[in-house]
Amino acid sequence: MAEEGKTVAESATEMVQIVLPNDTNMLGNLLGGTLMHWIDMVGAIVANRHSRKPIVTASMEGLDFHVPVKLGFLVILKARMNYGGKSSMEVGVEVYSENGLTGERVHTSSAILTYVAIDFNGKPVPVPKLILSNEEERKRHEEALERKQRRLHRLSEKRT
Ligand SMILES: CC(C)(COP(=O)(O)OP(=O)(O)OC[C@H]1O[C@@H](n2cnc3c(N)ncnc32)[C@H](O)[C@@H]1OP(=O)(O)O)[C@@H](O)C(=O)NCCC(=O)NCCS
Repeated sequence: MAEEGKTVAESATEMVQIVLPNDTNMLGNLLGGTLMHWIDMVGAIVANRHSRKPIVTASMEGLDFHVPVKLGFLVILKARMNYGGKSSMEVGVEVYSENGLTGERVHTSSAILTYVAIDFNGKPVPVPKLILSNEEERKRHEEALERKQRRLHRLSEKRT
């Protein structure tokens, strides 16, 4: 039985990483694959905190890299629930780079991921209802719902 409900704030997570030489390409910029891994990790933490269940990544979409992140910079990943379905959870992740010497912060990437809570047999299980506390959360929820419809349509077309 799923719990009564949880607010967006209850699972919102901020993760900070530092770009080390092993994380960069020949130009000294953060590797896209490393950033994707961090995005998936912070998103998974949000979904786990919301559901308190084992979760899997079902999709990653809307991933944009606006500007490169340099060696030695801090990477701040802010993730929160956009939408909670029966067993699925859409999480939005915003990525910022921070110059450790000046404190200047730049928005570098955004991503949208869907996680599904499962039991130990890999079967989807219910998650708590998402409690929306303000207008911004209601707007993000509405947009996520539209994306879910488009995703379901795309998936059904793939299956036919
Ligand atoms: C995700 C997974 C558990 C869904 O299982 P399923 O039997 O297809 O489940 P259902 O069709 O009943 O859908 C369950 C929920 O997942 C959502 N879902 C299923 N596939 C999805 C996808 N590709 N993208 C986004 N959401 C998806 C459905 O919309 C549904 O949401 P709801 O319960 O909130 O309405 C299953 O496809 C899976 O295990 N995939 C592999 C996950 C994995 O290994 N990830 C690691 C990365 S490679």
